[in-house]
Amino acid sequence: MTDLLGLTILELCYIAASITFIMGLKMLSSPDKARKGNLIAAYGMGIAIFATILFKEELTADKWLNYGLILTGLVVGTVFGTRMAMKVKMTAMPQMVSFFNGMGGACAAVISLVEFDHLLHTGKVETGMMVVIILGLIIGSVSFAGSIIAYGKLEGKIGDKALPGGQIINIVLLLAILGMAIVMAIADVPNETYLYILLGISLLYGVLFVLPIGGADMPVVISLLNSFTGMAAAFGGFLYGNQAMLTGGILVGSAGTILTVLMCTAMNRSLMNVIIGSFGGGGAGVEGKDGEQGTVKEISVTDAAILLAYANKVCVVPGYGLAVAQAQHTVHNLEKVLADKGVELNYAIHPVAGRMPGHMNVLLAEADVPYPKLMEMEDANDDMANTDVVLVIGANDVVNPAAENDPSSPIYGMPIIDVLKAKNVIVMKRSMGKGYAGIENELFFNDKNRMLFGDAKDSLEKLISEVKNL
Ligand code: TAP
Repeated sequence: MTDLLGLTILELCYIAASITFIMGLKMLSSPDKARKGNLIAAYGMGIAIFATILFKEELTADKWLNYGLILTGLVVGTVFGTRMAMKVKMTAMPQMVSFFNGMGGACAAVISLVEFDHLLHTGKVETGMMVVIILGLIIGSVSFAGSIIAYGKLEGKIGDKALPGGQIINIVLLLAILGMAIVMAIADVPNETYLYILLGISLLYGVLFVLPIGGADMPVVISLLNSFTGMAAAFGGFLYGNQAMLTGGILVGSAGTILTVLMCTAMNRSLMNVIIGSFGGGGAGVEGKDGEQGTVKEISVTDAAILLAYANKVCVVPGYGLAVAQAQHTVHNLEKVLADKGVELNYAIHPVAGRMPGHMNVLLAEADVPYPKLMEMEDANDDMANTDVVLVIGANDVVNPAAENDPSSPIYGMPIIDVLKAKNVIVMKRSMGKGYAGIENELFFNDKNRMLFGDAKDSLEKLISEVKNL
């Protein structure tokens, strides 16, 4: 293999791939560069894959079966993954991320199984190597099983099930995993039976760990499992001395960990509370206090249009319902129509609005809403007192004052967009239906608030035509 600057072509390709991963990740942090960043990292992954096939070992005719299998895997994976990604609805994105993450975890676990088999046949047991194989197997299989359960929950196929004594069972399983791992790491002869027992317990732990966690906490769990898969892939990189796999794994592992921490901070909850708590659950949560809050006032489309057209400053608070209604382009049109009337419209983005991190940013970027118009929650709250009208579109939990003033509420402590500080509030949704946390929202009963009932897209279209006529 030719050397260049003392490095083999394979090493140069791995360095190039690692650079694309870092560049891609950096670009993902800004909506206008995210798509390009994703593509750059994907090309890098392509370079790493083909460089490994071409330069890792000499290509020989007797390995045709291996090449055939690799090629088949690549084609099936590419066709299947592309189809899934093209067809997925924005609202089902978390499920898809979870599914793909599960596949990554499964790959890491399979690598450990295969490498253990090599170890058995070569007869050489190095403790360091064995530790890496065991860690890859445990973390990869927990991530696989947990991600598939998370996928099933988000698809509505699996409910939140807390087994009696579930936490004790999980602790026992964790101790069993730890015990088996130590026994295997210090054994002189690799024991295949232990390996498969360890695999079984790890898979069971993955299932039981995710099963009782509430629906609204799933994104945090998915992000945590994502970081597990990254770690497991990094162990694979160690095993093969593959720098690209190592870098990729470390990047995914650390990015997943940071995202997990950020989401917990945004909800004002600790990771432990997410894992053992049972917040949320797809609308089946705490009962509200119907009738105690007062009356709900409605507003007509015409009155809402007048309020908006004669305002100086309008703030839109988008939520999950905006994504369901696919009203991102329509709200951007309203923004343009209002701009023609001299009204400034900005968007207040709550970090957990919607159903996945950055959901609202992605949605609005899709409609070409200029990025500077998106205000982070803290900035939006600081500006709220100067806002004439807040238009809450398909958001519920992220504007629920119970998070601030009801210690018994499951969302208590979560920072919210403080819409009641504005002069007028209009909430656009279809009914008095609850949000993801399954709780009542006293905002709807507040004197300052008026409800504009209907599908977000329909109502926005009507508002646009009314504003134009004014
Ligand atoms: P939610 O609290 O879930 O409320 C969404 C509201 O949209 C519903 O009350 C629903 O009311 C309304 N809606 C649905 N379809 C609509 C349509 N076609 N037109 C108009 N309105 C429609 O949303 P949110 O305020 O964005 O809060 C997000 C919640 O999800 C939080 O509890 C968060 O913790 C959780 N969560 C967040 C994430 C991340 S990371 N973003 C992931 C999973 C869960 P009607 O049925 O009355 O219309």
